[in-house]
Amino acid sequence: MKMMKNNLKKIWKILFANAPKTLASVKEVNSVATAFNANIDAVLKIDTNKFSDLLIQENLSLSELRNIKYTKLDNPQDVLKGIFKSFSLGIAEEWLTADKNIYDWMVKNLGYDKLQMGGQGGIVANVLGIAGVKKVFAHCNSLPQLQADQFLELDNICSFDESGCENSAYKINRNHDVPLIHWIIEFNKGDKIIIEGQEFVCPKSNRFIATYDPLNLNLVIDKNFVETMTKTNLDYIILSGFHALSSENNGVKLLENSIPFIKQIKKKALLHLEIASTQDLKIRENIINQISPLADSIGVNERETIDVLEILGLKDLQQKCEENCHSINLFNALIAIKKKLKIPRIQLHFFGMYLTIQDKNFKISAQANRNGMILAAIISTSKAGTGSLNEYENLLWSLKEEVSDIGLKELEDLSAYIKNDALLSSGICQFEDFDIIAIPTILIEKPKTLVGMGDTISSISLVSAR
Ligand code: GLC
Repeated sequence: MKMMKNNLKKIWKILFANAPKTLASVKEVNSVATAFNANIDAVLKIDTNKFSDLLIQENLSLSELRNIKYTKLDNPQDVLKGIFKSFSLGIAEEWLTADKNIYDWMVKNLGYDKLQMGGQGGIVANVLGIAGVKKVFAHCNSLPQLQADQFLELDNICSFDESGCENSAYKINRNHDVPLIHWIIEFNKGDKIIIEGQEFVCPKSNRFIATYDPLNLNLVIDKNFVETMTKTNLDYIILSGFHALSSENNGVKLLENSIPFIKQIKKKALLHLEIASTQDLKIRENIINQISPLADSIGVNERETIDVLEILGLKDLQQKCEENCHSINLFNALIAIKKKLKIPRIQLHFFGMYLTIQDKNFKISAQANRNGMILAAIISTSKAGTGSLNEYENLLWSLKEEVSDIGLKELEDLSAYIKNDALLSSGICQFEDFDIIAIPTILIEKPKTLVGMGDTISSISLVSAR
């Protein structure tokens, strides 16, 4: 029987009201390690006049601007090409460089509005630190003052100085390290650029990331972190950063080099891999075939789900999801991925809803997962609504909001599809040999930031699943 929307909203309000208790329980988590990528995000809102001026300065015509042969930054013109592509299509892309000249050009010509913590590892370290995990160890392949400044001033977030001494990450200054800066160039739906008399309107708020990162590109690993982590008891390891590798730059070998360390630390902790997006097929294939089998849990968004389907050769599902990324197609995709990769737990987040599929005997119960996912919905939307998560008091900012109609509709469709009302009214049900946990999320009308939402969702869902 179809439940009335208002009733459903009441039911989910009651379930969401448990979030403060879940948040309080994060203080019982002893230790988490985040590796490998932390960097500095230089965020700026695109100034369309400035963009037009840069086209003239770099002597770039409209046809040259659209002539994209590769997705990396080999010269300043590529920065403009990438911005224009993401802007005009309303899509998120990230192009990388290890070339200091391009970095200098970006410093001079792009500037930034603000600096903030970037990289999955760094973002996760900050959010778990403020949520109350007793100790978070953040891997940093570079930690000069500017990087340390992006860590919250909390003594439970630690890293290592150049002589291997552990300290609060914000107090460390490895002053010979290079700052790794990623430009997050944001644009809003409806922004306009006029080029050669033609008007281009941005169809969807999104961002282009222009990354200068010689260390993450080479998966440089801090030996002090490795040494200490192999001797430390950890509850969870949150892993990411492989997507920055490039197959042209020996990326597969670099990825393989990290495997012995991962195998060693995963013996004692629950290992979660954030898949993240890469268009380098060789690297993606190796992340999926070599790293994900080591994980107890993986996190994906809808784009990354499609990317995984592509690697696994699940063409029908890939096409269906590309045509329509709704809950039923994504559910079928996730079940197929789960069966093929045999990963004990997979979590997906997409517009309006989160979905976890796990083995019935998984270490974390379905109910605990639901608690974690609800807290993740609140904390991530608090970040979107307030622009940052610097204060403990802000973590529950969006608790006052209701779950979205879009999310409820997705959940309703999925419950009807698998013929199980319990999923709609409790977020939990069983399907074949799996536990299914799904929740509708809150949606923030005018988000102040969207960078790092996925990282926040995955890490809070898991670590607060109690
Ligand atoms: C990528 C980007 C980084 C950004 C992160 C957000 O790792 O390189 O700059 O902070 O994604 O998830």
